[in-house]
Amino acid sequence: MGTSGALAAAGGGGPSAGGDAGVAAGGAAAAGAAAAAPAKPLNAAFSTWPTTVFEVMSKLAAAHQSVNLGQGFPDEEGPAAMKAAAAAALTAHHNQYPPMMGVPELRQAVARHSAREQGIPCDWATETLVTVGATEGIAAAFMGLCNPGDEVIVFEPLYDSYVGMCAQVGAKLVAVQLQPPEWSIPEQQLEAAFSERTKFILVNTPHNPTGKVFSRAELELIARLAERHGAYVLSDEVYEHLTFPGAAPHVSIRSLPRMRERTIRLGSAGKTFSLTAWKIGWMEGPERLLAPCVKAHQFLVFTVPSSLQRAVAEGLDGEEGRAFYSSLGAECARQRALLRPRLEAIGFRVLPARGTYFLVADAAPFLRPGEDDVAFAKRLTAEGGVTVIPVSAFYADAARAPASLVRFCYCKEDAKLAAACERLEAYLGGGKAGGGGAGAAAGAGARAAAAAAAGPA
Ligand SMILES: Cc1ncc(COP(=O)(O)O)c(C=O)c1O
Repeated sequence: MGTSGALAAAGGGGPSAGGDAGVAAGGAAAAGAAAAAPAKPLNAAFSTWPTTVFEVMSKLAAAHQSVNLGQGFPDEEGPAAMKAAAAAALTAHHNQYPPMMGVPELRQAVARHSAREQGIPCDWATETLVTVGATEGIAAAFMGLCNPGDEVIVFEPLYDSYVGMCAQVGAKLVAVQLQPPEWSIPEQQLEAAFSERTKFILVNTPHNPTGKVFSRAELELIARLAERHGAYVLSDEVYEHLTFPGAAPHVSIRSLPRMRERTIRLGSAGKTFSLTAWKIGWMEGPERLLAPCVKAHQFLVFTVPSSLQRAVAEGLDGEEGRAFYSSLGAECARQRALLRPRLEAIGFRVLPARGTYFLVADAAPFLRPGEDDVAFAKRLTAEGGVTVIPVSAFYADAARAPASLVRFCYCKEDAKLAAACERLEAYLGGGKAGGGGAGAAAGAGARAAAAAAAGPA
């Protein structure tokens, strides 16, 4: 994770061996004891792992009071009926451990949602598990399905927790790079990625960070290859309701013929109802695949706050919740239409997308000699007052990444988007190479002016 390593320098990282040794030596000296044995190495995967890019850039954004279009969380919160349901559930029910796999109301609602939206028959009693966000679902899937030495195929760019969990279980990440600008699948490379050691292929559609929505034909190709090699599919569908009107709708690979028995599908209330703080997610899959994931869940968290589970059940089943998630795609398209033309006028090349609330743009015209997307994103935060995420952070090995792409998250208030555009226009101007050099002072002035419009970022 070369790039993330560079980012970690700005925001932290795992404990260093030096730090541990220092503590041990200090403790021994204080007690006047014999020399302590050298500090033992900690977990090989996580002790040196960098802090996730989203945390790093959000901290940087706060330090510079920039408009934060980095981390993916919406300004508009989900349905009021769900918040009321959560509050009511807190007082109406016992507040003791709920069932390990989730409260029946939510598991039944998850199964109904799957059947209604994707035509996937789902037995709630054997095929659903409530998790602490999709993040826990990803962890439980890696822990439940993989043995050391297994291979897991992923598409890059990718969501960074896949890399961490793969390393933690001792599996080998086999990365296939989607090809910009359409982020198409390189078919031969994908075929070559499969081997007899492939345990599963991870498919994220709609896709973070690109906004790609995998077509039915692409999913059929993946399904054919998975079947041919006896591999399973982990389908991360947290953005399933965020497809633009008029674009091809989201298709779950679990809905394709014969894929129900080899696919685990992940969902997220955080994304479906714009309630990312709730951290309620779910897994659906055939009992045989789900069972070991349930065992992982049993030791990871055991269970999930029951009042929030009940409120999410209300969201999936109730009219207000269904209307909310059904309108998300149109709202995303509207917000994207506010941002895109202004970015293009400044000189960014905006890559195509069919869903999510992310926009990927090429910042090549603004890079200074020797500067990459990471350095540009940091400079833009510090000097231009706008925070974005460097796309190379979505690659397990930054050496494979395009070096000039950045991700904007645009599910923000219109005034905040407008303020970000004003800052970018002031700082980057007409897209001259090295923009923001001479313009840096002007950028600071513009920042002060725009801050009033933006409010706290
Ligand atoms: C592709 C993808 N999967 C999973 C998650 C995690 O979702 P949750 O917040 O439900 O844990 C995210 C969050 O940004 C994501 O982008």
